[in-house]
Amino acid sequence: MSTSHTDLPAFTPAEALSPAKRVLITGAAGQIGYSLIPLVASGAVCGSQTPVDIVLLDIPQALPSLEGIVMEIQDGAYPLVRSIITTDSLEVAFKGTQVALMVGGFPRLAGMDRKDLLTKNAQIFVAAGKALDQYGDRDCKVCVVANPANTNCFIMKDNCPSIPAENFTCLTRLDHNRALWQLASKAKVPVGDVARVTIWGNHSNTMVPDVDQALVRTSAGVVSARSAIKAAMEEGKDSDEAVSTWISGTFVPTVQTRGAEVIRVRQKSSAMSAANAVADHVRNWLSTVPSERVRANDWVSMGIISKGEYGIQPGLVFSYPVQIDTNGKIKVVENLELSEAVKAGLKATEAELASERDMYFTIKAELAAQQ
Ligand code: NAD
Ligand code: LMR
Repeated sequence: MSTSHTDLPAFTPAEALSPAKRVLITGAAGQIGYSLIPLVASGAVCGSQTPVDIVLLDIPQALPSLEGIVMEIQDGAYPLVRSIITTDSLEVAFKGTQVALMVGGFPRLAGMDRKDLLTKNAQIFVAAGKALDQYGDRDCKVCVVANPANTNCFIMKDNCPSIPAENFTCLTRLDHNRALWQLASKAKVPVGDVARVTIWGNHSNTMVPDVDQALVRTSAGVVSARSAIKAAMEEGKDSDEAVSTWISGTFVPTVQTRGAEVIRVRQKSSAMSAANAVADHVRNWLSTVPSERVRANDWVSMGIISKGEYGIQPGLVFSYPVQIDTNGKIKVVENLELSEAVKAGLKATEAELASERDMYFTIKAELAAQQ
């Protein structure tokens, strides 16, 4: 077939696209930012049919570096990118924001204890919550990545009364993806053949990776994770006990400590995988395109504001197994039967989150007293 240079190119009709979204990335000059920005620009975050207005926020010292990143976005010629703004102003950053990817935070420095780290980040997330409350779109969807992610998300909502609680989430999808890979690898199947893995609780080493409900597609059909692991084990070592030992002694600690292990090996924290997880989290939440949503009869893990499901204190930002309906409403998968080990893990991770929340309330009272 020949093409005449006088024929018009097949431009995408404007009506084929969804309305544009204004997407804020905080800490945009950091390492996760550098991996996340191309995913936002290419449609992997808000959906392949959704144009984006990208807003990049960082501290004043990072603005020159952001200008270089803007040049790279321009040079990417991404068809979905409508505009790019860089700023160090919370008002500019949050004005009309519809998707807030909260990556920017204060890193843990040598000698800092948990309260020091929480104090630094509490100040950032108090200010962000207030700015979102004042300037953001009333239906803004929030994904907090910066650590401590669950508590930073709690703090942001605490300072943003006007936006519904269900719009606030934190990232535990990286832990979920780590669990998927570890299980798939042990069962010797592709990762797409694993479903119904859960991460419960805090994005910290008290998280509870759970494969009790997980299903694996094997050549023998869809079976429980335990059966798939057993079948993949070396003959003679394929006992139920060996499977339990692998789950509690290898799988759970590997997922719980994977972030620290990446830091040890790479000398920097996870960035590419974290950005990929943000894309999975937000795309599954927002997209109207069926192939970009959570697959049917499966679930994903998200940190959300608890309404007391599974006996967790309401208000804590807790990672649950969730499904997302076609209106983008996040629903906890309820009535799962939990093992005694998982129930004990839930209590421990809940206690840690409650102590972080109480530490924040102390910091809040101290800050109020200084004013
Ligand atoms: P980074 O240090 O490379 O980048 C952080 C960026 O935030 C920097 O550019 C910094 O200037 C900026 N920043 C600092 N204070 C800010 C403020 N008040 N407003 C806006 N920007 C600000 O860090 P990174 O590797 O990109 O990681 C970012 C965060 O994500 C860290 O807190 C890290 O621990 C966390 N993290 C979370 C997960 C998860 O699964 N939830 C995974 C990996 C990393
Ligand atoms: C991760 O899970 O990779 C990070 O949360 C680790 C970290 O401390 O930044």
